[in-house]
Amino acid sequence: MSDFATLRSHATRLADTPVARLLQEDPGRAKALALRVGPLYANFARQRFDAQTLDALFALADDAGFAPAMRRLLDGETVNVTEGRAALHTALRGASSDASFARECVAQAAAARKAMAEMIQHLAATEVTDIVSVGIGGSDLGPRLVADALALPGARFRVHFLSNVDGNAARRTLAGLDPAKTAAILISKTFGTQETLLNGGIVRDWLGEAAGLDGGRVYGVSANVERAAAFGIAAERILPMWDWVGGRYSLWSAVGFPIALAIGMARFEELLAGAAEIDAHAASATPRENLVFLHALTALWNRNALGLATQAVLPYDERLKLLPNYLQQLVMESLGKSARLDGTPLQEDTVPVWWGGPGTDTQHSFFQALHQGTQVVPADFIGVVRSDDGYAQNHRALLANLLAQTQALANGQASDDPHRAYAGNRPSTLILLDALTPHALGALVALYEHSVYLQSVAWGINAFDQFGVELGKQVANTLLPALEGKARADDPVTQVLLDEISARG
Ligand code: F6P
Repeated sequence: MSDFATLRSHATRLADTPVARLLQEDPGRAKALALRVGPLYANFARQRFDAQTLDALFALADDAGFAPAMRRLLDGETVNVTEGRAALHTALRGASSDASFARECVAQAAAARKAMAEMIQHLAATEVTDIVSVGIGGSDLGPRLVADALALPGARFRVHFLSNVDGNAARRTLAGLDPAKTAAILISKTFGTQETLLNGGIVRDWLGEAAGLDGGRVYGVSANVERAAAFGIAAERILPMWDWVGGRYSLWSAVGFPIALAIGMARFEELLAGAAEIDAHAASATPRENLVFLHALTALWNRNALGLATQAVLPYDERLKLLPNYLQQLVMESLGKSARLDGTPLQEDTVPVWWGGPGTDTQHSFFQALHQGTQVVPADFIGVVRSDDGYAQNHRALLANLLAQTQALANGQASDDPHRAYAGNRPSTLILLDALTPHALGALVALYEHSVYLQSVAWGINAFDQFGVELGKQVANTLLPALEGKARADDPVTQVLLDEISARG
């Protein structure tokens, strides 16, 4: 039996045992706390736990039911209890299940991929060179990350992403594009998202007016086909989404249409295969050899036992520079909750603030605070072993910096001068990809997806709803008439601000 209080007692016991000492006392630790799964290698030796703590953490995984929870997810059970739905992103990559609903979803996903491949073939036979993908949140961040990471020079299509409702985003995205050679994809699960409808309208009109195309180059991806059709998208150009896939878990579905256009259908399938390898691993590996379990337990240890309030993600690969943005939604929209599944308040802290950026750039911005700031920030460092950029010396320098930072953060360095002293004992996990292939990136993203889910299981919260974002949207809608001068705001501060905007506007 293990709970968060037990974990905290281990944290107290280890308070004066820095990770450097744990490594000294146990010469096997550096290797023993590493796991390899397919293209991923992860080393947890610089996390601040010892063997006894690990026993407590794995007991917690057992008590919380990590293994049955993985099975429930893959079998399409109603894990999204507040919305009465499954969360079957694993079916999108063909994860195996005996449940007939999950198998049916695998088949639906395969049919959608076939339709997507036909659309790509059709587009490839036209003069279209550029694609504008319009969507936001889960309908943008995943495709944007993967397309940016994996698109190769000279690809058949250049893919551009438009998300922000700020008109400057539309202006900048469309500048330099030729409407006669551009197609648009409007991606919205609900097809009711303000940003996507406004930006989609701009792009649809830009295509129609400039090229006389009457919407013929506008594609849609949505679970609400009626709304997409009402927007003017022809039924044969709408790809499906389903209520059994959450938006931020959807890049593997037709939401990945821009990815497939950017990297080709075959490499899109490799991305899915990489994720499927982690699905199979998460569902079948023994707890101690389960990379997803250990990743989730490490997060819980840092948050609930050590009380660390933020978590950094530091990809040492320029192509992964959007990973922190993507993970901010995946992790914080999933785990930023304070009510348990049964509605009772959760007594533990949930998600830390996730932030980060690519190394080595960030070494010259916020790493000072990581090394000497008063807040300890656990970090996931992500590196890529083989690079094909052709600049071997740069790649060695990149890897040297990656290894140096994790070492310096953990070991620190004493000095009589407090300004020049490094306390060390700053925990990190190092994840290495053999190479940045679609397969490896699929595996990496799936690792985070499942780690997030298992953290939610330990906390007893729902990782698949996001009611917290609704209130702001509702208030924004009520304020539109006030911004047009047709109504007054109920809130006195908001009204003063509206007056100020109106006076200056
Ligand atoms: O930000 C809130 C949210 O509902 C996300 O969960 C979702 O990914 C995003 O908006 C976009 O929603 P849709 O795909 O319905 O346009």
